Amino acid sequence: MSGRRPFVAGNWKMHKTAGETGPFVADLAARLPDGPEVAVCVPFTSLAEAVRAAAGSQLRVYAQNMHQAAQGAFTGEISAAMLLDLGVHGVLLGHSERRQYFGETDAALAEKLAAADAAGLDVILAVGETEQQREAGETEQVLARQIADSGAASHAARLTIAYEPIWAIGTGRTATPALAEEAHRFIRGRFPAEISEVIRIQYGGSMKPDNAPELLAQPDIDGGLIGGASLEADAFLAIVAAAT
Ligand code: 13P
Repeated sequence: MSGRRPFVAGNWKMHKTAGETGPFVADLAARLPDGPEVAVCVPFTSLAEAVRAAAGSQLRVYAQNMHQAAQGAFTGEISAAMLLDLGVHGVLLGHSERRQYFGETDAALAEKLAAADAAGLDVILAVGETEQQREAGETEQVLARQIADSGAASHAARLTIAYEPIWAIGTGRTATPALAEEAHRFIRGRFPAEISEVIRIQYGGSMKPDNAPELLAQPDIDGGLIGGASLEADAFLAIVAAAT
């Protein structure tokens, strides 16, 4: 993991009401170890409650998406300023579920990343290949395009990358540590030398307490973006402990 501070984030996806969020986040915040950075990416409706319950702790609260415009006629959307106003620390952008089900493009992500950075929100940018792309030998091409077209290098100071091979998300099929490390090293190499040394790259895709230690031991894996296992405090904290 080098000298970079480990960063473990839970992506709740569309789980937990505001009522469920308060006690869950309060429990998590009270049990966090010193050392790694830890965040939860929660649904919009749970953000205020999560910020309230995490107050005074190290736990950071992230949204799972945002719109790139400052304001305007975009029914159903949420701006960076609205997130900051709630006390939100950052935003997860480009998750494969948003790319796949909601048509999110690298061009839109470039705008979102620029808007988040300008507003002062930290960003976790998710990248990753489909199973078909991996089998066709296109993994590196896909990752390189996602990094370049989203303008990631221009916003590196606020940025964490999450490498999430789509075939490993929610399937129980984790990438082997060697395969994940290879992708992480490739992603790191996409950035200029001064950024490449400091930018953190999380692994995501069926990371669980039992496979986390081996993944996190890889030199270019700086943390995790955890889906299913982040919905249960003991499992999430076990992964955080593995990063400590
Ligand atoms: P799982 O950990 O449930 O595979 O989800 C990974 C993910 O998509 C996190 O963003």
